[in-house]
Amino acid sequence: CGIVGYVGSEDACPFLIDGLRRLEYRGYDSAGVAIHGGSRFDITRSVGRIDSLAAKIGNEPKAGILGIGHTRWATHGPATEPNAHPHLGGEGEIVLVHNGVIENFQVLKDELIAKGYVFKSDTDSEVIAHLIAEELKQSPEIKDQPNMRYLSAVQAAIARLRGTYGLAIAFRDKPSLMIAARFGSPLVIGVGRGEYFVSSDASPLAGRTDRIVYLADHQIAVLTPEGFSVLHRDQGKVRVDIRQLETESGEVGLDGFDHYMLKEIYEQPESLRNAMRGRLDDQNATAVFGGLNLTPQQLRSVERIILTGCGTSWHSALVGEYLIEELARIPVSVEYASELRYRNPPIENNTLVFGITQSGETADTLAALNETKRKGHRTLAICNVVASSIAQAADGGVYLHAGPEIGVASTKAYTSQCCVLAMLALYFGRMRHLSFEGGQRLIEELRLLPNAVQQALTCNEQVKDVAKKYASANNVLYLGRQYNFPTALEGALKLKEISYIHAEGYPAAEMKHGPIALVDDATPSVFIVPAGGTYDKVMANMEEVKARGGPVIAIASEDDPHVHQIADDVIHVPQVQQFLQPIVTVVPLQLLSYHIALIRGCDVDKPRNLAKSVTVE
Ligand code: G6P
Repeated sequence: CGIVGYVGSEDACPFLIDGLRRLEYRGYDSAGVAIHGGSRFDITRSVGRIDSLAAKIGNEPKAGILGIGHTRWATHGPATEPNAHPHLGGEGEIVLVHNGVIENFQVLKDELIAKGYVFKSDTDSEVIAHLIAEELKQSPEIKDQPNMRYLSAVQAAIARLRGTYGLAIAFRDKPSLMIAARFGSPLVIGVGRGEYFVSSDASPLAGRTDRIVYLADHQIAVLTPEGFSVLHRDQGKVRVDIRQLETESGEVGLDGFDHYMLKEIYEQPESLRNAMRGRLDDQNATAVFGGLNLTPQQLRSVERIILTGCGTSWHSALVGEYLIEELARIPVSVEYASELRYRNPPIENNTLVFGITQSGETADTLAALNETKRKGHRTLAICNVVASSIAQAADGGVYLHAGPEIGVASTKAYTSQCCVLAMLALYFGRMRHLSFEGGQRLIEELRLLPNAVQQALTCNEQVKDVAKKYASANNVLYLGRQYNFPTALEGALKLKEISYIHAEGYPAAEMKHGPIALVDDATPSVFIVPAGGTYDKVMANMEEVKARGGPVIAIASEDDPHVHQIADDVIHVPQVQQFLQPIVTVVPLQLLSYHIALIRGCDVDKPRNLAKSVTVE
């Protein structure tokens, strides 16, 4: 979910709508704004995208110099208008927007219902609104400190919450006071001249102010047009560190493409060049990274690496495991961030933990890094969005420089993550066993990569035909081995995400132990079978599927003379070294899911139920 807030001297509404558009990557189930109208709140809410909210508000935005807004990814309660934020508390004395999940909401709700509060939504967030209203009743006016009563009520209410929250709160009887509070759900404050902004991340602030404050957990900000202050929930005022905004503004256009996803698929040769720019060091036959923030001693003593992330970023972590173990001979474990944060595995000293994330805002990845950092391990981010929450929380890291990725299904960020992991493998390898010549060879291969991906993109027309043939399938299997096992997982995920077809990725040989039971003439199998060590083995697996009447689509190297004899459809990709194959073989799979989704009439860039970045756990 995404939050915005404004208090100042201008109408709040235009900033709120514009800001929500920039936060839509956090969810687009429903949206709403509340503007302080002097003696009451004007609330507009709507199901669906910010566009529907904007249309509902029309050309006459509600006037008011204080307002809050929200774009939702549903957790408690379906995406209906009553469940859309902002939510009122009490008899309308409070209005708030919330990001996060309140775990003890049922207990609190029962208590408030017993006290006579009437709930209008199924959300956990409305509980906070009523709770603040209740605390406000108990909270006395304090002479010469007109805002204190409101602050105390918020403090008392949040002290009772278990779970996570980013909150922006406004009060009917205080038309120019806003309070923001954070625990586990990022919030930033934009510091303008006589105006202040609140937002889930810095992107809505670009073009409005370049001075920002990142709230830390347990901090509360009190904002009025006259100024702002930040307090720790229990320890009183804190010194505020105003930073320079690094986020770039500017709309990202479609540049003639029909969808962002297609545009981003086609940007991959360039995004890979950008990932490598300035990072390949021919003189020493290694890679260089500016932001790892590790001493040579720390780098040399690394004994283990943990790679963690969610979704597509978890898939690139799997590629990273193969890369780092093969090229640098450092043991690697890959962990789902959502599991790592609670699993408490033994982690030896001299372990590096990399959080891999496109957005830098995924709640589970952030929490997993914070948890391992708390235990004293070095945490690093492989991240696309500059100055994002994870980029800030980590001790150091590597930016992807892939440019904004708008399509919900990740494409160019994935290939850039794999590319950065290949460079890290080279880097760690060269500190250990990898020879100068070995390093040089890897650099040469890396340099060929953007052109290989460019060439792989020429399969688009052919992929379109294949898509037509299989678009009505209900189940699809994706099978590959070694470096292309993660490709199989990623291909299946892409299809699920945007075409809503059930798909499973498996190591090709493991298919015999279950998924083969699904094979019939209506269940196509996509084999990723480029030239390499396991080629013959994968071909044998392909025969096993054919023998059971399953249609086969093969992703194969350009000069493969045999694959046509077995596969029904073959899509050729240029041959590259095995360690870089996943970056090339995934391209036709991205295109296949894109074209199938188009044929099925799906919303490619904003598929149902998903969000670009999941900011709740
Ligand atoms: C969501 C997106 C996926 C993405 C995952 C992790 O589920 O829909 O495309 O891979 O989050 O996001 P991150 O920004 O951390 O890479």
